[in-house]
Order: sequence, then structure tokens, then C-alpha cells
Amino acid sequence: MFEKIYTGFHAATMSDGRYGVIEDAALAVAGERIEWIGPRRELPASDAPVVDLGGGWITPGLIDCHTHLVFGGDRVDEFEQRLLGADYAEIARRGGGILSTVRATRAASESELLGSALKRIDGLLAEGVTTVEIKSGYGLDVENELKMLRVARELERQRPVTIRTTFLGAHALPPEYKDRADDYIGLVCEQMLPAVAEQGLADAVDAFCETVGFNTAQVERVFRKARGLDLPVKLHAEQLSNQHGTELAARFGALSADHLEYLDEAGVEAMAESGTVAVLLPGAFYILCETRLPPMEALRRHGVPMALATDLNPGTSPVNSLLNTLNLACTLFRMTPEEALTGATCHAARALGLADRGVLAPGKRADFVLWDIAQPPELAYWLGGRRLCRKVIRAGEEIASC
Ligand code: NIG
Ligand code: FE
Repeated sequence: MFEKIYTGFHAATMSDGRYGVIEDAALAVAGERIEWIGPRRELPASDAPVVDLGGGWITPGLIDCHTHLVFGGDRVDEFEQRLLGADYAEIARRGGGILSTVRATRAASESELLGSALKRIDGLLAEGVTTVEIKSGYGLDVENELKMLRVARELERQRPVTIRTTFLGAHALPPEYKDRADDYIGLVCEQMLPAVAEQGLADAVDAFCETVGFNTAQVERVFRKARGLDLPVKLHAEQLSNQHGTELAARFGALSADHLEYLDEAGVEAMAESGTVAVLLPGAFYILCETRLPPMEALRRHGVPMALATDLNPGTSPVNSLLNTLNLACTLFRMTPEEALTGATCHAARALGLADRGVLAPGKRADFVLWDIAQPPELAYWLGGRRLCRKVIRAGEEIASC
């Protein structure tokens, strides 16, 4: 039974990793779900009220599947230092980088963190994002990691958005554990993870596998514990060097491996075999002025699904726009606009383990966006300054007219 019918638009359904264009489309909603979508002339007869959207295109609600958008302070100074010649790893070794955000995040109250995170999430919502993943990882002790995750969960109560939280305790070594990384991993596994799981604060577990982060043996301990608690894993892997973290992640059936600039063919094969999504983060690549591209051709050849995300964080990716990220992915990583849009919808959903969204099809959540565009690639074409999002419908309810 249809409850409401929408007409007056073209649809890019993003099914099967393609635009999946339906011109002059209609979409019928029942409750939170899409009941029917297809060409308007084929719409079954119904008494349900009809809403004419008045032109433009609809796509699934956008999904930002990798962010660190809850944090204290900013890293404007570091941005300046890097442009004066310091590099990211060097700043991290000097106690700056992630650790400077750890200091600011620990010092911030829950309501201060919430206030600054709301501004950032509002930036995403204004451009048609309906699902956002948020990581912890700037607390690095039990109390502050839990604080970050509570703030992330609170965002979902305060805004019309689905939030997926990820526990990233193994992000950096806090100063009180200097030269004792294995002991810190003990704290992550024995205290943080059980508390996070018990309080239901995380939907997944992540780690930073890197010379300036944690090695594969340490990440493996975190993954074992996470899987024992029934939490899926994902990994920041091969961002600055090839640590072979991706193969480890694949062995644990990771939802995604993220960054991947230094990924090699063996890593790509491992991902293809385990069905792990490659989450590409061109914002961090851009801000760090990196030159080494992820292995795009190998990822395509092996059919590894490629998702895209902002990586919104104060250090390597102060990128508060998923639409601009689509453009960066095309210009910097040579993704096609179709791949980029698939990466921020269909494949992003998969990177979060969410089977109910990311495409427009019967049975999926009725999360969709009406865009003021003449054709789908336009979403990746403009870089800033345009209000492309006209309306957002989430779970069958109109939540915003932009
Ligand atoms: O995804 N690489 C590690 N983590 C973040 C950066 C966090 C930070 O620099 O604050 C990233 O790029
Ligand atoms: Fe990240």
C-alpha cells in the first residue's frame, strides 16, 4: 500500500554501481521504505497523495562513511607549519598532530564537543548527507573515548541523520604511554573495548596501522578483541607507507580498509577475496599534498568496491563537504563522476555494513535528495559555492528544503 507518491523528477538510483537512470520517474513510499520506483507512466494505480517535486534529479541520501568530526580545538597552526616545510609524520613525532587534538579534546566538555560537532554535521546535512560515520580516537583513555562516542550518539538525537560510531582507541599513542605501545594496546583491549561494547557506544572498531600509529601485531590484538565482542572491524591502512595492514584487515573480514595510497597488488587481491570495501579519502591526500595515488587500476581490475568519504578531521582533512570530495576524487584520483557518486552512496553503505540504503530500490529506506541539476555528473563537477541540494527526504519524511 502506497502512502505517498513523488513525481516530477528524474532518478539516479545508483543500483549495481551505475547511475541507474530513470527519466520522468515516480517513487512511492510506505512508512520509512521505498515501496516502488520506476518510470512514472508505469506507476500502478493508487489513491495515495501525489507530491510533484517540480523538476531536477533525485539520488539516494549521501553517506559520509569515514569522519572524525567530533574533536576539540583545531589544527590551523599545523596547517601553516606544514606549508613552511614540516611534514605530517615529523609533526606527529614532535607531539603535535593527532596528540594536539587529543589535548584539546580531553580538555573540552561534552557540551563543547557537541556544539562544535553540530556545526560540522550541519555543513554535511545541508548538502544532502543522511548517514554519517564518526570515529573516536582523540580521547585515548577510557573516560575520554567514551565521552567522544557519547557525543557522536547525541548528534543522532539532535539532528535528522543516521550516525554510525566507530571506536578508534588505537589511533595514536597517548603521552602517558610513551614508548609503551604494547601496554597501551592492553588498555584498549582490556578496558576500553569492553566498556565501549557494554555501553553499546560503537558499531565498529578501527585502528591506525602506520609507522606513526600501530604495527600489524598490535592491530591484530585489537581486532581479535573486537571480533570476540562481535564488533566488525575496519582499518586506516597504507596511508603513508605499506605496512600490509590491509591483508590483516581482510583476514578479519573487515568492512573496509581506508586511505590505501601505498596499497600493493597483494593487498588489492586480499580485499577482493574478503569483500572489503576500499574507502578512498582524497581530502587527506589533497591537504597533505600527497603525490602517490591509490592503485585505482588494480582496484577496478579486481572489482573492489570503492567508497568515498570526507575523512573530516582537524589535521589531515578539514574538508566539511562530501560534494567537494566527489570533485577531488575525480580530479585527483581520476575517478569517474559515476564511480564517485557510487562511492558516496551504494559503496559507502556497504563500507558501514548497512544493507538498507545507498540505492533507490523497493524495500530500501526512503532516504533521498532532490538536486537542482540537469544531469547526475554535475554533482561531482562544481567545486563549492553552489546550492545543489533542494530537498532532503529521510525515512519517508521531508526534513529539509534547502
Ligand atoms: O584519517 N590517519 C590517521 N587519522 C586521521 C588523521 C587524524 C588527524 O591527523 O587528526 C586520518 O587522516
Ligand atoms: Fe581517518
